[in-house]
Amino acid sequence: MPTTNNYADQYHRSLTNPDGFWAEQASRIPWYTPPTQSQSTDADGLTRWYADGVMNTCYAAIDYHIEQGRGEQPALIYDSPATGQVRTYTYLDLRDEVARVAGMLRNLGVSKGDTVVIYMPMVPEAAFAMLACARLGAVHSVVFGGFASPELAVRIDDVRPRVVLSASCGIEFGTVIPYKPLLDAALAQSAYPPAHCVILQRPQCEAIMQSGRDLDWATLLARATPADCVPVLATDPLYVLYTSGTTGRPKGIVRDNGGHAVALAYSLEAIYDVRPGEVFWAASDLGWAVGHSYIVYGPLIYGCTAILFEGKPVRTPDAGTFWRVIADHKVNVFFTAPTAFRAIRKEDPEASLRRNYDLSSIRALFVAGERCDPPTLGWLDQILNIPVIDHWWQTESGWPMVANQLGLDPIPVKMGSSSKPVCGYDLQILDEDGQQLGPNQEGYVCVKLPLPPGFTPTLWHDTPRFRESYLNRFPGYYLTGDGGYIDEDGYVFIMGRVDDVINVAGHRLSTGEMEEIVGAHAAVAECAVVGIACPLRGQRPVGFVVLKDGQTITPEQLETELVTLLREQIGAVAYFRNALAVKRLPKTRSGKILRKTIRQLADGEPFTIPATIDDPAIIDEIRLVLASRKVGVAFGE
Ligand code: COA
Ligand code: AMP
Repeated sequence: MPTTNNYADQYHRSLTNPDGFWAEQASRIPWYTPPTQSQSTDADGLTRWYADGVMNTCYAAIDYHIEQGRGEQPALIYDSPATGQVRTYTYLDLRDEVARVAGMLRNLGVSKGDTVVIYMPMVPEAAFAMLACARLGAVHSVVFGGFASPELAVRIDDVRPRVVLSASCGIEFGTVIPYKPLLDAALAQSAYPPAHCVILQRPQCEAIMQSGRDLDWATLLARATPADCVPVLATDPLYVLYTSGTTGRPKGIVRDNGGHAVALAYSLEAIYDVRPGEVFWAASDLGWAVGHSYIVYGPLIYGCTAILFEGKPVRTPDAGTFWRVIADHKVNVFFTAPTAFRAIRKEDPEASLRRNYDLSSIRALFVAGERCDPPTLGWLDQILNIPVIDHWWQTESGWPMVANQLGLDPIPVKMGSSSKPVCGYDLQILDEDGQQLGPNQEGYVCVKLPLPPGFTPTLWHDTPRFRESYLNRFPGYYLTGDGGYIDEDGYVFIMGRVDDVINVAGHRLSTGEMEEIVGAHAAVAECAVVGIACPLRGQRPVGFVVLKDGQTITPEQLETELVTLLREQIGAVAYFRNALAVKRLPKTRSGKILRKTIRQLADGEPFTIPATIDDPAIIDEIRLVLASRKVGVAFGE
């Protein structure tokens, strides 16, 4: 069948002949043994891609490009306004760094199939570590540096690493955040602490080492010899990345090697419209899926130059940082979360600082991670004379599910839409009973199986939970957890989560987990944690607590204790600032807490009091509490 660059043709083909479509895409990456089949079903009945293919992701991301003559091309640029450093690594440099870190891990007994936890700030060594694991066929699990010890401990216990790699500190807006005390506390809580931790000492803060367990990164590296790439099956795991679910136990999203590499290579060209040799920058964190896919693996697998940015969009040193990085490194395509631009816009409403820089290299801006509010999108359109593309995906998918595929013939933008389903994704909107809804009807956003390459095939050592969380609700479909609709022209509108997951400054968090922590406080009888609208962060969690009878603690004291507790248990990123004492929570007559009603009240969304409410007078009580504390955009926040 002749192929065109037309989105509708490509999309149709990807759904009617997925095996043929993905067999063609497989040739985008180097294989030691090319796969003879695209799609197959494993012993658990789950879809796997390229099952008999043999490859190595680190080879595809580095060594292969050197063999193709890209050795002298910059592969990774570390730009750190946090420390005032800029370092460029060519593909040859990167190979040498990564091979030595792999040698260091090998000396510690790490081999194919072993797991390694990486708890590090945005330093090049964190990317070397990821790629070094891939080189050995080991499985890495990066834990976001903003998480507190209990979050780290829970991940360590689930993944049971042979080694933890960490650093002495991170730097946030000029403040040095020591990591080692957090790691020590996590290991003290952990049931499966590893024999060794390797610590990168940064000059900003010296970590105190525990003799025997903790090892110095620089010393070990100096003794290491380079390690070669170890062939793995396409279906072998590359990494586990934990993401928030509806409870305190995060979900271990598994990424395989082969399908992941193919999907990312496809996305760089067909969605982001970059070419090998060009500069791709995703301003995110290695601790998130965006960081895995588009700071490290995607751009490198596709032969681009990737940027690793250690800084913030504002105050490092000013709201012109992003423009400076784009100009200095001649970035061609840029990707970040809308919250970053809301922060810039707040400090530089006219974006006047951009005039200090030559932004002529940039061709397109992609935003994702949360809904891009129309004022921010409009502002970006106005200040940048390039396509601004909102696109939608999640940790589970690892690459976009809905986008305007710029690498195909682009389609006109519709305000509020993340555009159309990406090739390979049969996106459908279902009602409560699993019936497919028609145009403009809002329901559950689902993907009809099979899921395309790159998508998590299952959860780490927990296929029953994978089925329970995503597949059982609507047989034959993957439940994304988002609500939305598709209009009469096929444009997708994502309206927000239908579960307990919220997005705070692009960080995915669980209000269910927060409720477990708040509810465990001795003074709390019951509680609800609700994600309300936040002008800068998109959403923020607010607690509503009912005190047990006879408590002497004041509401102010309780709030202070709960704020501290959430910070210690989840981390500062939770941005939990309010726990409001209320006499009762609004509930249905069957006892279900009406969280949506509370959120609508705080956000000032029009709503009707649910007919099922047990006591309508509670609504006014909640309104009074919100007004007295000025919590919620409806009450002047
Ligand atoms: N390590 C340690 N602490 C961290 C951290 C990290 N990696 N990331 C954030 N924190 C801390 C912050 O220091 C802050 O602590 P504080 O309460 O003591 O001040 C807290 O967590 C809240 O952080 P945040 O919500 O990020 O607020 P902020 O005021 O520090 O910055 C933005 C606001 C919008 C500038 C920032 O959130 C941002 O750059 N967002 C973009 C997010 C992003 O790229 N997401 C990836 C998805 S694509
Ligand atoms: P994460 O797994 O951290 O990438 O978060 C995924 C969730 O973020 C999705 O399920 C959505 O709820 C939300 N999200 C991501 N991108 C968008 C977008 N472009 N528009 C609306 N919501 C988004």
